[in-house]
Amino acid sequence: METATTQIEVRSSKTTQFYDDVTAGLKQTPKRLNSKYFYDANGDKLFQDLMNCEEYYPTKCELEIFSEKTAEICNAIIGDGDAFDLIELGAGDAMKSTYLLKYLLDKKADFTYLPIDISANVISYLNITLPVTLAGLQITGLNGEYFEMLEKAASISNKRKVVMFLGSNIGNMPVNEADGFCRALRNHLSEGDMLLVGFDLKKNPKTILAAYNDKGGITKRFNLNLLERINRELNGNFDLKQFDHYPTYDPEIGACKSYLVSLADQKVTINNMEAVHFLKDEVIYMEISQKFTVEQTDQMAVNNSFKPLNRFFDNKEWFIDVIWVAK
Ligand code: AVJ
Repeated sequence: METATTQIEVRSSKTTQFYDDVTAGLKQTPKRLNSKYFYDANGDKLFQDLMNCEEYYPTKCELEIFSEKTAEICNAIIGDGDAFDLIELGAGDAMKSTYLLKYLLDKKADFTYLPIDISANVISYLNITLPVTLAGLQITGLNGEYFEMLEKAASISNKRKVVMFLGSNIGNMPVNEADGFCRALRNHLSEGDMLLVGFDLKKNPKTILAAYNDKGGITKRFNLNLLERINRELNGNFDLKQFDHYPTYDPEIGACKSYLVSLADQKVTINNMEAVHFLKDEVIYMEISQKFTVEQTDQMAVNNSFKPLNRFFDNKEWFIDVIWVAK
């Protein structure tokens, strides 16, 4: 009985947060929606499709790094060999980390894997499947916001922390925000703790834009899915046919941004809130996928009391995974 009640309260407070964020975002100029809400069950599925599409290179590059440099990465993480918590922010399908987990288990490293994800769907999947594919794995999946779950992880154990933030998820923030995020992470860590971060690097602008403008239209559906989620979960009435996807890339600042463009003068209502008005050609800013230089990644470490320890590149040098140590 009690469990059921708690469950309902949690669920409704999450919905309220979603509602508050959506309505606040649509009151801004330009209108905006937070890309963290892309990842409901449909969004997770669409992102899987995206990772398999020809144009979307970041996952393939990072997978290459994790499969070809497994030993080097693991040895850096193991360090002196003391027990540690391997925390992953935004674990997704954990495919990349699985390379590390396998190797660490083979080496009999003393660690617990704590995947954190905003998607409840993802966490229950990992909790169920990983211990089956990886015998002996100690896993505690945490469903929620990064910093809340990091605090939870710290309260569960006082072991050394190794935090992974892969897949260029850090690119979902512009450079100054990413820098602030690293500072906040540092504040949740202790001296000697580590950060393993994946950054998508600046490269030919056409390669980047194509990755966010795939011919199959998956990125478009990925963006439109958020409108569909609002319709379903917040009782909205977005007409998806009245919105088009507009991806952009600015090679000077390395910002790849996605917008949805209103194709008509239209009114959309969300639950009982007053209607949201869209002018024809008005845009909703949906997502940023920031690209970095190697120097920017070093700078970000130094700015926030980390020491850059290792750099791992894919063969094309399109992507980098760095290991930093908290000073
Ligand atoms: C999961 C945030 C790394 O920005 O490249 C892919 C999401 N958006 N295509 C990215 C995404 C459009 C992806 N991240």
